[in-house]
Amino acid sequence: MFRFSSIIGAFAAMALATSSVSAFAPAMDVGRTTFRASRAVAAPSKSAVRSNKTELNMAATIDLKGKVAFIAGVADSTGYGWAIAKALANAGCTIIVGTWPPVLKIFERGLTKGNFDEDSILEDGSKMKIEKVYPLDAVFDSPEDVPEEIKTNKRYAGLDGYTIEEVAKAIEADYGKIDIVVHSLANGPEVTKPLLETTRKGYLAASSASAYSAVSLLQKLGPIMNEGGSFLSLTYIASEKVIPGYGGGMSSAKAQLESDTRTLAFEAGRKYGLRVNTISAGPLKSRAASAIGKEPGQKTFIEYAIDYSNANAPLAQDLYSEDVGNTALFLNSPLARTVTGVTMYVDNGLHAMGMAIDSKSFEGRPMVPE
Ligand SMILES: NC(=O)c1ccc[n+]([C@@H]2O[C@H](COP(=O)([O-])OP(=O)(O)OC[C@H]3O[C@@H](n4cnc5c(N)ncnc54)[C@H](O)[C@@H]3O)[C@@H](O)[C@H]2O)c1
Repeated sequence: MFRFSSIIGAFAAMALATSSVSAFAPAMDVGRTTFRASRAVAAPSKSAVRSNKTELNMAATIDLKGKVAFIAGVADSTGYGWAIAKALANAGCTIIVGTWPPVLKIFERGLTKGNFDEDSILEDGSKMKIEKVYPLDAVFDSPEDVPEEIKTNKRYAGLDGYTIEEVAKAIEADYGKIDIVVHSLANGPEVTKPLLETTRKGYLAASSASAYSAVSLLQKLGPIMNEGGSFLSLTYIASEKVIPGYGGGMSSAKAQLESDTRTLAFEAGRKYGLRVNTISAGPLKSRAASAIGKEPGQKTFIEYAIDYSNANAPLAQDLYSEDVGNTALFLNSPLARTVTGVTMYVDNGLHAMGMAIDSKSFEGRPMVPE
């Protein structure tokens, strides 16, 4: 019954042989990566849009010089966090990031060794500089929350100050006020399980890491953000439509994240003059996502998801992490000064479809308008 879930679950679960498992999750090992979506295997329809990646150069019209952005959830160059950092850096923004302790060392080593140099090249030919990497575990609000087994865990050895409250204090000490906060992280230890089999512990863990973490980040960083600043998170369509296999309460966590976006837009808007939005992103063939979910003789889950999107979305074109980066740049810029409380789809329009037009049920019936 849940056959497909194991594939998708594996996609979300990732290669972390750790107690925590991510949803659209982190890579343990990093390096130079190819993170662009693969071309659809399914041939595009006649009406398909055949453009390549966007040629937009929004940085030319958006100037974020003098602004500081903190991007939580960057540990390699494959994910949406990196693409958002790059889009903001192209506009002159200062970039600082928060990295999960279990992958911090390998990320820092990769940065030092130049593993990400090629993926760091900005539009003017210079390299994106990540000014500071803060260890951040977004499931802990303050030092009292950190249990003994984490403090003594070898992946956290020698680290402190990684709770949200402490990171906010460190950022304030280093930069005073900042302008942009991006929440680009998710984690669901039971993501491979259908909701019907998810434990209370697993469900609450997904919610804590993937939804409450955003509330807490805004709580702690809101007071040190300049008026007119922007808070942005990343969500997924499983919040509102059934995506078999996106389990363990991850679909619930994304629904919370979207609902909280609206409530926080009101509260942080009135309290601090901040904007709060979320991007519902289409499937991205990150290196991490590609590494999992492959059953013998089959495509990886992400290849299925990308092909499904190409076959069924209004726009039959590839989605790149830069597309999400560009939308994030817009949402985090003064161009969007009146946009708040929004879930913005960057998914080639797939969310709008109510039927899979490539379904076997429609065999022989033309489904795409001439
Ligand atoms: N990849 C996709 O197809 C896709 C689609 C829609 C939404 N998203 C969302 O985009 C966001 C970024 O994911 P991504 O796919 O780019 O993968 P990613 O691996 O680049 O980002 C996830 C990050 O979360 C970090 N993380 C996990 N637990 C953490 C914790 N407790 N504290 C701090 N950091 C933690 C990981 O180390 C990793 O860096 C996530 O919210 C994800 O759900 C991804």
